Amino acid sequence: MDRVSATTSHVLDTHRLRADFPVFEELFDGKPVAYLDSASSSQKPRQVLDRMRAFYEHEYANVHRGVYRLAERATEGFEGARRTTAAFLNAPSEKEVVFTRSATEALNLVAYAWGLDNLGPGDVVVITELEHHASFVPWQYIAHRTGASFRHIPIDDRGELQLDALDGLAREGDVKVVASNLVSNTLGTINPVERLAEWAHGQGAIMVVDAAQAAPHRSVDVQALGADFVAITGHKLCGPTGIGALWGRKEILEAMSPFNLGGEMIRSVGLQKTTFNELPHKFEAGTPAFAEAVGLAAAMDYLGEIGLEAIERHEHALVEQAMGALEEIPWIRVFGPPADRRAGIVSFEVEGIHPHDVAQILDWEGVAVRAGHHCTQPLMTRLGVAATTRASFYLYSVPEDLERLVAGLYKVKASLG
Ligand SMILES: Cc1ncc(COP(=O)(O)O)c(C=O)c1O
Repeated sequence: MDRVSATTSHVLDTHRLRADFPVFEELFDGKPVAYLDSASSSQKPRQVLDRMRAFYEHEYANVHRGVYRLAERATEGFEGARRTTAAFLNAPSEKEVVFTRSATEALNLVAYAWGLDNLGPGDVVVITELEHHASFVPWQYIAHRTGASFRHIPIDDRGELQLDALDGLAREGDVKVVASNLVSNTLGTINPVERLAEWAHGQGAIMVVDAAQAAPHRSVDVQALGADFVAITGHKLCGPTGIGALWGRKEILEAMSPFNLGGEMIRSVGLQKTTFNELPHKFEAGTPAFAEAVGLAAAMDYLGEIGLEAIERHEHALVEQAMGALEEIPWIRVFGPPADRRAGIVSFEVEGIHPHDVAQILDWEGVAVRAGHHCTQPLMTRLGVAATTRASFYLYSVPEDLERLVAGLYKVKASLG
């Protein structure tokens, strides 16, 4: 892999790093895009694109099934990606890393394969008011199907979890699942997942962590979190679309029923009975997204060379700058916790102007932000809005992007305010 254009010291050389991302070569009305939508999906560096191209050109065949050299190369690429993912998450074993299509699929896998067999009337599934629909809806659905209660940990006015609600939740029945994101995709809140995991285990529950929004920006150590399952996704961390991963504790994964059926997850099939493969293949039905897994591993290597701590610090500086600037504007309301307790995400409302109009006018200024409910409708209800405008940062974000955002917001106000 080409060396990345960054130092591993405290400060990112963002301007040099940006040269890794072809998207910034294109000019929109004379300027590169001020891409402030990385929480939705990140841009891709050449190192990832080149690795996938080389894989397709020189190492491509279906995995696991062939004895010829190309198939062996492909299998080694795929299984090597699993080792890289295990190391990225500090997983005790690569057998605990299941490749999925997305974080959504990883979370559905747990809800279906664990939830259908282990939940019933009298049990309680606890999620947070901040959950992304990818975690909220599968648990809501499986709770309703099994007769379990579905409860949430409320947030306070700053968008932080109210942990004093936990005792009350414990009195509602047998808490069997606690599901929380590590970083909220809408407010940027960093949630106290380690504490939740401790509480969950005290109740005899499993702890399911949605780290889709955390893994691109801070190091995620599944052992330190104390979780039982952790879901991540590739497309937010400089990797390709169509690939995610689920880490799960071996003993729980082993005891679980399969999720999807067919392909490499089979050991033997008879007319009456089928037996299933060992971990992690038991949960990988059909031809897996192996070229994408190789791309994901290249993205993890890329982030590893830059250093997730440096990325986190860089984004923290940007979020402080963004909140400082936005909070000074009287017709803007910023949602969520203070800068020191959030990741690089800022959701806000421009008084009297719909977020879609805000985003549309910002686009005319070459500023890409997201407007909508961000797949967190229960949170929107709590905030008392239908939608917000969200700016989110990544390793290639620069202070000029923020200056253009603020200048663009004054144009929005001038044209629609
Ligand atoms: C917190 C969170 N969880 C889950 C997801 C879903 O991830 P994927 O796009 O891989 O399904 C997202 C994506 O927006 C997210 O932000």
